[in-house]
Amino acid sequence: MKRVAVTGAFSYTGRYLSKLLLEKGHSVVNLSSRSTPIASSGLSSEEAQRISTYPLDFSNELLLGKALEGSSVLWCTYWIRFERGDTFAAAAQRCARLFEVARQAGVQRIVFTSHTHSTVDSPFSYIAGKAQAVEALRSLDVSYAVARPCGIFGDTAQESILMNNAAWVLRRSPLFLLAGDGQQRFQPIHVRDMAQLLLELGQLDYPSGSTPPNEEVDACGPDAPTALELFKHIGRSVGSRAMVLAPGILSTRLVTQMTKPINWITGDILLDGDDLDLLASGLTVAERPDDPRIASRRSLMTWILWRSWVGVLWGAFMVGQR
Ligand SMILES: NC(=O)c1ccc[n+]([C@@H]2O[C@H](COP(=O)([O-])OP(=O)(O)OC[C@H]3O[C@@H](n4cnc5c(N)ncnc54)[C@H](OP(=O)(O)O)[C@@H]3O)[C@@H](O)[C@H]2O)c1
Repeated sequence: MKRVAVTGAFSYTGRYLSKLLLEKGHSVVNLSSRSTPIASSGLSSEEAQRISTYPLDFSNELLLGKALEGSSVLWCTYWIRFERGDTFAAAAQRCARLFEVARQAGVQRIVFTSHTHSTVDSPFSYIAGKAQAVEALRSLDVSYAVARPCGIFGDTAQESILMNNAAWVLRRSPLFLLAGDGQQRFQPIHVRDMAQLLLELGQLDYPSGSTPPNEEVDACGPDAPTALELFKHIGRSVGSRAMVLAPGILSTRLVTQMTKPINWITGDILLDGDDLDLLASGLTVAERPDDPRIASRRSLMTWILWRSWVGVLWGAFMVGQR
């Protein structure tokens, strides 16, 4: 048994990772503002009770260091979704400090969740910030791994907000319009496959005394449909007769405006302009599509069909994060 630390052990991906860690007999430390799971799926309340929580308080490095003492691996899923009142560059600096505190506390390996095709000079500040955090990790004298997702989907409506709410619109509207030519590809990973990959990247079974190799890998599923293929497939799976069109004249900003009513209903932000620009950028696909692990993961297109059969109410209600 090893002691390990996870930022957001009660949040989305962290719940599924923590479950796998507990099943392997490890002791999990949660660094988070949450002391209970964000949802009941993924981690039972009995399992949650076996996890000890410490605040992810970047202003208190002493306490962070104490929380990390004795942990062999840190999984850092921490990130912010929007720059409102904050910046991605500042989030990257917080990650860099956390990595350093973890190193000083004796953590032997750090696993960070980045994003596909992130570069420090990216015009997308979300992924430029991710790249800055990765740079900080690379320059640290500690063994590390980086997982690169571009989207994560799961088995409940809340875990697949974009697709659930698209299904809601497709069930009700005669027309579903896409930005640009609809040829942008999207290659998300199922949350359970993401958790499994993160577990493997932690290299908990690596022979003691030797250092596991640094790794940077895609966290993508086997399907990379274009936006047109994806939303037509969702429409067919929920029995929609809506026409899904990409007339080639709609800007991402205009389409973002069209999603505003969904934001009002759900009290969440479905897509902001930057999200949609990123989805339309060609960067939401694997960097190394020939990675053999990708083919073995859950298929997005099959999952959509499964959702429509098992979750007959899928897309019946709009959902948000709050
Ligand atoms: N979900 C996707 O589609 C997607 C796509 C590409 C990359 N990623 C990356 O994959 C990782 C895991 O994603 P996820 O969806 O599973 O993330 P998540 O569970 O929603 O959040 C991960 C962590 O970030 C913290 N966090 C989020 N917003 C915060 C804020 N405004 N202030 C302080 N802490 C905040 C959460 O804190 P609490 O523990 O307090 O909740 C949690 O510890 C993230 O790094 C994300 O950027 C996700």
